[in-house]
Amino acid sequence: MCNWADNAPRNRALRRLARALAGSALLCLGGLAAAGPPASPGLGRPVPPELIRAWDIDIGPDGSGLPPGSGTAAQGEPVFQAKCASCHGEFGEGVGRFPPLVDDGTPLTAERPRKTVGNYWPHATTLWDYINRAMPFGNAQSLTADEVYALVAYILSMNEIIDEDQEMNAQTLPKVKMPNRDGFITATGSDIRAPACMHDCVAQVRITSRAGRYKREQAAK
Ligand code: HEC
Repeated sequence: MCNWADNAPRNRALRRLARALAGSALLCLGGLAAAGPPASPGLGRPVPPELIRAWDIDIGPDGSGLPPGSGTAAQGEPVFQAKCASCHGEFGEGVGRFPPLVDDGTPLTAERPRKTVGNYWPHATTLWDYINRAMPFGNAQSLTADEVYALVAYILSMNEIIDEDQEMNAQTLPKVKMPNRDGFITATGSDIRAPACMHDCVAQVRITSRAGRYKREQAAK
């Protein structure tokens, strides 16, 4: 429709019409240009860096993302007693159903392993990330960076992973080797493949265990 005006008609009225159409041809071109993919949908607003920083709080195993600051177990103890012990116990032993934070020596290979920061977590930096992100439960992200370093130092020292007077900061924390650091494997092997049985499958499925069996056995002892 846009190139109608190219066929210059002889009749004056038609010429006028052609000129008018030539104008609309320009509009058509303009329309074509505007029909290309828009640079942006024109919604929202640019995200200010401080908003991105508020979300971008993950700490890598190598310590990437750790902020400046520092703390020792001695500084962490009063914070822990004030803000954490009501749920995790004065010695990190766990109150009621709240998780313990200190290893009591139960081996991970026990029938009922007791997984804690101390005997299970592979990276010390995860402790910083987790406490900073999620604790104290119900008042998450209320701690300063120094408080988090101090709490991490206190929990690591209660687990006898670092010395009482060892300062935790962005340089020292990633160097802490957790006892179970080499206890994890990359799960790409046969244990995560579950090929469906297509022939000669078991005739009858027998249930060998049910949740709660352990508890009943313990109760009967
Ligand atoms: C009101 C109770 C409560 C308080 C107070 C609290 N926590 Fe927790 N904490 C929890 C609960 C519940 C979980 C388990 C959360 C989950 O698994 O989703 C947890 C989990 C944790 C874990 C991970 C344990 C694991 O092995 O998975 C750490 C570390 C921790 N808390 C540290 C702290 C620290 C440090 C403080 C004090 C600043 C604190 N918590 C205060 C209830 C609490």
